Amino acid sequence: MAIKRCAIVITGASGDLAHKKLIPALDVLYSRNEICDSCIVVGTGRKPFTDEEFRRSFHVSEKFAQRIYYHQFFSGLKDFIESKGEFSRIVIFFALPPVAYETTARNLYEEGFRNGVSIVIEKPFGYDLQSAKKLDKELSSCFNESQIFRIDHYLAKEAVQNIMVFRFSNPLFYPVWNSRFIESIQINAVEQATITQRGAYFDSAGIIRDMIQNHLLQLLALLTMEAPVSLNAEDIRIQKINLLKTVSIEECFRYQYEGYKLENGVDSDSDTETLAEMKLKINNFRWATTPVYIRTGKAVHRTGTEIGVKFKEVPKILYNEKGKLDQNKVIFKIQPAEGIVVDISTRAPGTESEINRSFMNYCMRDNYSGFIPEAYQRLLMDVLKGDHTLFVSAAETEVSWQLLDNILDKGELTLYKKGSLPAGKTDASWIDFDKYSNLCMY
Ligand code: BG6
Repeated sequence: MAIKRCAIVITGASGDLAHKKLIPALDVLYSRNEICDSCIVVGTGRKPFTDEEFRRSFHVSEKFAQRIYYHQFFSGLKDFIESKGEFSRIVIFFALPPVAYETTARNLYEEGFRNGVSIVIEKPFGYDLQSAKKLDKELSSCFNESQIFRIDHYLAKEAVQNIMVFRFSNPLFYPVWNSRFIESIQINAVEQATITQRGAYFDSAGIIRDMIQNHLLQLLALLTMEAPVSLNAEDIRIQKINLLKTVSIEECFRYQYEGYKLENGVDSDSDTETLAEMKLKINNFRWATTPVYIRTGKAVHRTGTEIGVKFKEVPKILYNEKGKLDQNKVIFKIQPAEGIVVDISTRAPGTESEINRSFMNYCMRDNYSGFIPEAYQRLLMDVLKGDHTLFVSAAETEVSWQLLDNILDKGELTLYKKGSLPAGKTDASWIDFDKYSNLCMY
């Protein structure tokens, strides 16, 4: 069903997010007829633009450009929108620095944006537990929770959405998804890139706030939560929260790449971490004896996000008499290419009883050639439909901050060389994820 009679407002409309992500995504949705002509896009901000000037700052189809307008400041914005037509929904995207969220919500509320309005905000949702609670309190004094959409773009990744399908529609794996069979869970999200042009933001955040508090804890929750009673957003959120409440951090190690302090916007004395390794525990009946390891960082030797589920060893008899047999693994390849690899032992043909590693692969892009929406296209469509499934709730963000509360900015920093992965300090026997990087390529 195409979206009708919707006004999409972008605050901070002359910024990067509007130019790089939002307007291009809306252009695609419009060209695919997912958004009707009865919808409009209104940019707003402090800078003065005419509609024509504003339209010309984007590379979009001429037809879509005609649906785009600009209004300077919030004052009079509601009347401006009403002068363009009758809209059943108004979706307001905060393409703004997070420090502006609270006052923007208040200003919009005072301008009369209330019922029939949704607001969309990007991470970071707070800086720690206390500030997250304060932000939630402010936002909820203007809008109720069902009007607020908090983006975690990882949830919109196809390979992330596939985790629940893999778990809850394959009885093959369901019985073994617990501590009895699984030795460890390993989440690896590394990037070759340094902090690029985002020094000021990154230096005040660090990789734990930037990646673990949101994206990686969400991955962990989807991978290990109990089955929801339905696929409703609320039922899924309940299970994610229940899981996150049981997690504790056993160890946390912070690292910084050499030369980080010389990056633009970074304090020359900075002790912000650019890479972190953690060992966590899930204190529930299903997972209590399976450690979870998380490793994420910038400026390492490759870019890739994977989740590895490592099964226990077979007994040291028969083919594993010498204890050398590699363990089964399920590798969820989140990116750059999406897929699932099941790593199994097979007989090397023609040998006495040599064992090979063999990979059973599902590579998403080999199996599907249709249109696969990019994360922002998917998220925008869901906001316009009012579907919260791929968005995080206030309770989820608070429980994640709570989990990290004692370790943020704590502990000494170890330096590592740009372009290399530092040796880990937890007792993890890390899966060699590089080994799977040439499976499923596009
Ligand atoms: C963002 C972080 O949320 O996610 C960035 O702020 C990080 O630092 C990015 O690079 C990773 O996203 P993706 O989709 O490239 O894995």
